[in-house]
Amino acid sequence: MTDLPFEAEAKRRRTFAIISHPDAGKTTLTENLLFAAGAVRLAGQVRARGENRRTSSDWMKIERERGISVSSSVMTFEYRDCMVNLLDTPGHEDFSEDTYRTLTAADSAVMVLDAAKGIEPQTLKLFEVCRLRDIPILTFINKMDREAQDPLEILDEVANKLALDVVPMQWPAGSGARFSGIQNLTSDLFTPFAKGQDEPIAPMKLDDPALEAYLSDEVREELVDSIELADGGFPEFALQSYLEGHMTPVYFGSALRKFGVTELLDALVELAPAPSEVKADLGANEVLQQPGGKEVSGFVFKVQANMDPNHRDRIAFTRLCSGQFRRGMKLRTIAGKAMTVSSPLMFFAQDREIADTAYAGDVIGIPNHGVLRVGDSLSESGKLQYPGLPNFAPELLRRARPKDPMKAKHLRKALESLAEEGVTQLFKPMIGAEMILGAVGALQIEVTAERIATEYKLDVIFEPCPYSVARWITAKDDAALESFADRHKMQMAEDGDGAPVFLAKSSWEINYAQEKFPDISFTATRERR
Ligand code: G4P
Repeated sequence: MTDLPFEAEAKRRRTFAIISHPDAGKTTLTENLLFAAGAVRLAGQVRARGENRRTSSDWMKIERERGISVSSSVMTFEYRDCMVNLLDTPGHEDFSEDTYRTLTAADSAVMVLDAAKGIEPQTLKLFEVCRLRDIPILTFINKMDREAQDPLEILDEVANKLALDVVPMQWPAGSGARFSGIQNLTSDLFTPFAKGQDEPIAPMKLDDPALEAYLSDEVREELVDSIELADGGFPEFALQSYLEGHMTPVYFGSALRKFGVTELLDALVELAPAPSEVKADLGANEVLQQPGGKEVSGFVFKVQANMDPNHRDRIAFTRLCSGQFRRGMKLRTIAGKAMTVSSPLMFFAQDREIADTAYAGDVIGIPNHGVLRVGDSLSESGKLQYPGLPNFAPELLRRARPKDPMKAKHLRKALESLAEEGVTQLFKPMIGAEMILGAVGALQIEVTAERIATEYKLDVIFEPCPYSVARWITAKDDAALESFADRHKMQMAEDGDGAPVFLAKSSWEINYAQEKFPDISFTATRERR
């Protein structure tokens, strides 16, 4: 039986994210993946090196100044027979919540390691997020053109620290100044690395005399020895094990020198999974929603405000899970919000375009005025609900006030808008008119201040507040909740969705309250629905 056209379309989608520690080369790799796929003509079109470090995935001034990518987005490009959706995740740890949500929209991941540094703290954190859903991971060991650790050591480290089966698909010949190319372990062909030239050289057999120009006898011997040493030390590649998240095939290269990038892209379209079924609630039942299923459905994993300063709207990044989406369709949430999606956006390397059709695996940006929230599910029937995306309790709380006291109302609006993106949270104490911003890290507070200044033309002051911990509170019994809230009026607040939050001076105070009020649950995460 042949697939329905939209089943076939879903099957050629590859939706993935790159995970890495800052500085491992994610931006450079992104840029050169786009270049290798022909999605940009000059790698420098994505990032003009030197003068600034803006990439098409970096929107904000603070990112350019700091050279970090903090807001995530998506880039769609075609390669071979596939439509590839690359979800950009912020590398900085202060934005791990955003990254977590973005990873829920990815079907697989590419883990980039710096060949000199191996597994770094943020790699480990992000890997653990991938493991929660057993996302298949391809590993790319970058910066081989710099002095690297022994490949065997790096592979051992990946296997031990991540408890993964590792399978080298290639083996590097030397590193740093001696880096001479890569041996493909499946085809037995060697791709030479020509120093000082970006043009690729065709792969050849190790005994090809033409190789002498690129590979010294000494490095060749080392290569042959270490492949022999590695032989038998690693399992055979097993697609199923990779798809189940237990095995990672490993590739080597230099993103900066565009070396090994096409091979990685080939592996991605050949091995990485197309969208698969997703569990959803349908009223009282759980259903598996198939990518080829007829009903159009998806969920919002990110909301970005003010992408276009001329239009103060919000883009809800929606990962489609089934059906054939058509522009102008009416989609509904289970809470009964309905919207006609007349200008859905698709994001390409340099442009965004109105999408006429989209399929499972694709990410469409739905412009809206605050109707859609992170975690909302959308479907034609309005009856499907994908698992909610969690909100995490912030680790930093700051009182916000405008420099100009007349601007409090404006500031509240700005903070509410930014909180709807789900990156920071705004708590409104039950008593008084204070605004308390919750964030995971200090950088988020700085980014918020910067965005309020540029996007809302307001100067904001964030100052310490008496609280350091926020916990959502719930109870089986409404009366218990009310009685707790009543006795702690001064410390009660609401989050952006109106859920009750207890603000405490310390975690000790939370423990104390928990002992006194055993019927109340104090939680550090809340599922957004
Ligand atoms: P990130 O997004 O993971 O944070 O890393 P990014 O791509 O920005 O790369 C971090 C630094 O590592 C950059 O250098 C980049 O040029 C360099 N880099 C990335 N891939 C490679 C590689 O394969 N080989 C070598 N030698 N370097 C690589 P920088 O000095 O911080 O910035 P720039 O001035 O070069 O742009």
